[in-house]
Amino acid sequence: MRTCPERSGPSSLRPRTSDAAPRLAARRLAATRRLVATRQPTESCMTDTLPGIDPADPPDPAQLPPPVGMLLLVTAKWISQAVHVAAELGIADLVSDGPQTVDDLAAKAGCRTQPLHRVLRAIASYGVFAELPDGRIVNTPMSDYLRTDVPGSVRHMARMEGADFTWRPYGKLLHTVRTGEPAFDHVFGQRIFDHLAEHPREEEIFNRAMTSFTEQSADAIVADHDFSRHPVITDLGGGQGHLLAAILRANPEVRGVLLDRAPVVESAQRAPVGPEVRARMSYVAGDFFGPIPPEAHADAYVLRTCLHDWSDDECVAILRNVRTAMGDRTDARLLIMESVVQPGNAFDVGKLIDLEMLTLTTGLERTEAQWAHVLERAGFAVAAITETEPPLSVIEARPASAHTPTAVPTAVQTPTDGGTS
Ligand SMILES: C[S@@+](CC[C@H](N)C(=O)[O-])C[C@H]1O[C@@H](n2cnc3c(N)ncnc32)[C@H](O)[C@@H]1O
Repeated sequence: MRTCPERSGPSSLRPRTSDAAPRLAARRLAATRRLVATRQPTESCMTDTLPGIDPADPPDPAQLPPPVGMLLLVTAKWISQAVHVAAELGIADLVSDGPQTVDDLAAKAGCRTQPLHRVLRAIASYGVFAELPDGRIVNTPMSDYLRTDVPGSVRHMARMEGADFTWRPYGKLLHTVRTGEPAFDHVFGQRIFDHLAEHPREEEIFNRAMTSFTEQSADAIVADHDFSRHPVITDLGGGQGHLLAAILRANPEVRGVLLDRAPVVESAQRAPVGPEVRARMSYVAGDFFGPIPPEAHADAYVLRTCLHDWSDDECVAILRNVRTAMGDRTDARLLIMESVVQPGNAFDVGKLIDLEMLTLTTGLERTEAQWAHVLERAGFAVAAITETEPPLSVIEARPASAHTPTAVPTAVQTPTDGGTS
């Protein structure tokens, strides 16, 4: 974990970033490995507990001759879509109680045996499921994470990443790079959150995928920031409320408000958070592009993985609404939980999530200097940046002055320049 002391402007942020980049990347990788190592699902049928399995030896692009490593990256969609199919059919859940024949799996999943076998055989060579000598299929340490109810499950992410509403736009990434228009808008003729609002099944897949990520990082975020400093916390674009519930569970004096789009709030209200937490939580169906309603005014405002969906101009509009809600309270805080992209060539998952933002939204993953710039435009100053569960950091911002910025129009023009203005 890294904590930067209180400070005021982007210039003071830059030197540390460049000095620390390789160290930070290594720490993130190590933290990710630790996370995976400590989150083994229970009661699995793991490969190494079953005799007779010919273990997979998945290729590592970095260890292969360059043309072969390159080819693996070029054909990555083969694996991605095959994993999606297994996730969508719920294969990992079906084999969670023990080995199953492909015939049985196909019957239970409502699909054809031979195509299913070919899909499973391909991904088994990457260690996702394994085939026993008698042909039955079992879970492996990797496919265990395609089970629905294990901590750290990526099943819903796999469902989302291969679903039409994200898969088709990736086929038009070149269009985005040529024109600046998000491929999603080009393919579907509307913006992603408008599309989701009209397509309940896709909305549900999206919400579940986001929730599984939130569940993974909620404990670390709660441990890495002292939320007890803020008696009332509003989670803007709070999704299904898992982070807010985790905050309230760990801080019995704190009350929480979840604000999100109406359909999201509707399903969030059904999420099981327990009576004690529910008593301190309220829900507001709203729009963070409009003024924050009085019932959502708070001592601290959380925005977790929301701002990366929006261009700089759009973020400034959202943040100015938050700043206006704070009024002359210079003790109020804004807590942004997002990637802080590292410079250089080191592996940083934020650089990959940025491709998702480029393809599906007008947003982007931001560097420290870009965050400071957006915040400054909205009347905030960075107070501290704390690295938490990779790839997230908590960016704590405070009002730059007691002066409330002039209200901005609620409707924002969609920029086509990727929002780096
Ligand atoms: C990437 S998700 C993050 C959800 C949640 N903060 C989390 O970390 O799991 C973005 C959230 O922003 C919400 N959102 C999008 N547009 C919004 C708007 N105009 N007003 C309020 N919430 C919005 C979405 O419904 C979604 O829940």
